[in-house]
Amino acid sequence: MPPTISRLIQALEPSATLAMAAKARELKASGRTIYDFSVGEPDFNTPAHICEAAIAAMREGHTHYTASSGVIELRTAIANRYRQVHGLEYSPLQVIVSNGAKHSLHNAFTVLCDPGDEVIIPAPYWVSYAELVKLASGKPVIVPTSEAEDFKLTPARFKAAITPKTKVLLLCSPSNPTGSMYSKDELAALADIVIEHNLTVISDEIYERLVYGNHKFTSFATVRPGLVDRVITINGVSKAYAMTGWRIGWSLAPPNIAKAMDSLQSQETTNASSVSQYAALAAIEGPQNCVDEMLVEFAKRREYVQKRIASLPKLSTCEMGGAFYAFINIQAHLGRTYNGAAVNNSAEWCLQLLSQQGVATVQGSAFGAEGYIRMSFATSMANIQHGFDKIEAFLNSPA
Ligand SMILES: Cc1ncc(COP(=O)(O)O)c(C=O)c1O
Repeated sequence: MPPTISRLIQALEPSATLAMAAKARELKASGRTIYDFSVGEPDFNTPAHICEAAIAAMREGHTHYTASSGVIELRTAIANRYRQVHGLEYSPLQVIVSNGAKHSLHNAFTVLCDPGDEVIIPAPYWVSYAELVKLASGKPVIVPTSEAEDFKLTPARFKAAITPKTKVLLLCSPSNPTGSMYSKDELAALADIVIEHNLTVISDEIYERLVYGNHKFTSFATVRPGLVDRVITINGVSKAYAMTGWRIGWSLAPPNIAKAMDSLQSQETTNASSVSQYAALAAIEGPQNCVDEMLVEFAKRREYVQKRIASLPKLSTCEMGGAFYAFINIQAHLGRTYNGAAVNNSAEWCLQLLSQQGVATVQGSAFGAEGYIRMSFATSMANIQHGFDKIEAFLNSPA
């Protein structure tokens, strides 16, 4: 008999985005042309000056264990950035550097949740939140939002979801998967409820630097005085600096939470890669024009994506203020056959789009919103153009 898997892990949903990306890779390996809009990572390489800093760090002997919460230079640089950009006062000791923002989220849920503690997660949500909460023995409470509300949690829906067991509100702005963003006033209205009910907020701000047009990013901890005592802010270098493979993320947390996270990761992972930490330091302290250049390219793609969606029959999206995703309403295109294949939900739609036209997207049901698909536009303009031609052909395909 093979060893049995723990109940905790048996209950874990594998990541739908990674599953779709794996399927797309498989088809590519078999020789098919695939337009892959499934993964959420910049298609740019890490800027050269950051790579050079990593090489220099290796040569200088930064190849050993570091303090479990990160090297003090990086923690200080992160604290300085929040002071300069957001006017938030953090000691470097309140900054915990981890193996990517996903690890920071794991730390946050694990140090906060006792069994049964409820974490409110507005849907559509990034695929990992609910699973990370379950791993931390918390209880995800999914609260739906609507396209008409730009997929943002309203104070009324938030209040209605609060119970005596509620401990945490999870927010993600700009959002993966919808690209929608909360205004300062909208965040302040949620903050008032958070304060009234003595809740903690985990604010995932990983897309902070990818914001378009007139949209303005607001860090949740700034919207009311004293919020730094009840907010854990999550961020990292993966998306802004095209550094997904380096695995550096961080949390800014109240001192007791930061200390608990430090203990947790000292037992679980020791420290994030020493070389990557120095690369992240160069990213934060070095020239920022690389971020602006990537943003210009993403902005062009976003505009094109919006135009193509508007030009296709009965597709819609919300206002995409940030990040690099379009969350597309396909409800009018369900309940029919495509070249003989019956398609009744978003998973079937994505599967047929991939097998018939070679376009990889991710079903909305994986993000808690059936009737939608997520399309990442972190890929070349040529790919996006061809991909939309294929989507158009799919929509027009005979029954
Ligand atoms: C909303 C959100 N949070 C966190 C992460 C994790 O980022 P990292 O690569 O730093 O672990 C992602 C990555 O896709 C994300 O979309």
